[in-house]
Amino acid sequence: MEWKQIEPCQLKESPFEMIGNQWMLITAQKPDGSVNTMTASWGGMGVLWGKNVVFAFIRPQRYTKEFVDTAKEFTLTFFDESYKKDLAYLGKVSGKDEDKIAKVGFQVEQCHGAPVFQQASTAIVCKTLYTQWITPENFEEAALEEKWYTDKDYHMMYVAEIEAVYQK
Ligand SMILES: Cc1cc2nc3c(=O)[nH]c(=O)nc-3n(C[C@H](O)[C@H](O)[C@H](O)COP(=O)(O)O)c2cc1C
Repeated sequence: MEWKQIEPCQLKESPFEMIGNQWMLITAQKPDGSVNTMTASWGGMGVLWGKNVVFAFIRPQRYTKEFVDTAKEFTLTFFDESYKKDLAYLGKVSGKDEDKIAKVGFQVEQCHGAPVFQQASTAIVCKTLYTQWITPENFEEAALEEKWYTDKDYHMMYVAEIEAVYQK
């Protein structure tokens, strides 16, 4: 099936459902053409600085972070329920250790000049606008910091402009 571009406001599903329940892949490509991806279920979509944006949160040890930081752009892709086990795998194994994309049988294709997966049903192409580390001293609710950062591996927050949204 062909990708068809839509406006961000035409996305029918709630971001709570898309990100929190269906999960998404964060994918980026280095200049040498190599691609890495990881599953994410934390993030957001909204409006900031007069732009439609997404928010993504990536821990420092993720191999995908290198790709996102080098490319300064990334895609979010969403899949139907039948791919949930593949997303669970891509969220457990690191691309540092194996070619996990090939392992799950996903095909990378270019959409709007960025890497997406043929198996996805929605793709959002994003350009990084702003990055900031989550810092322990900024928590108003200390229990959250204790719960989620026992290894002190604070996420990098990415605010990225939505350049294009595609659906199949
Ligand atoms: C459902 C689910 C949600 C996840 N959400 C995030 C997330 O939002 N941020 C993050 O840094 N890691 C998240 N992870 C963990 C990464 O996907 C996982 O560590 C992955 O293996 C990293 O792959 P990489 O090293 O190839 O980048 C999630 C994992 C799963 C299974």
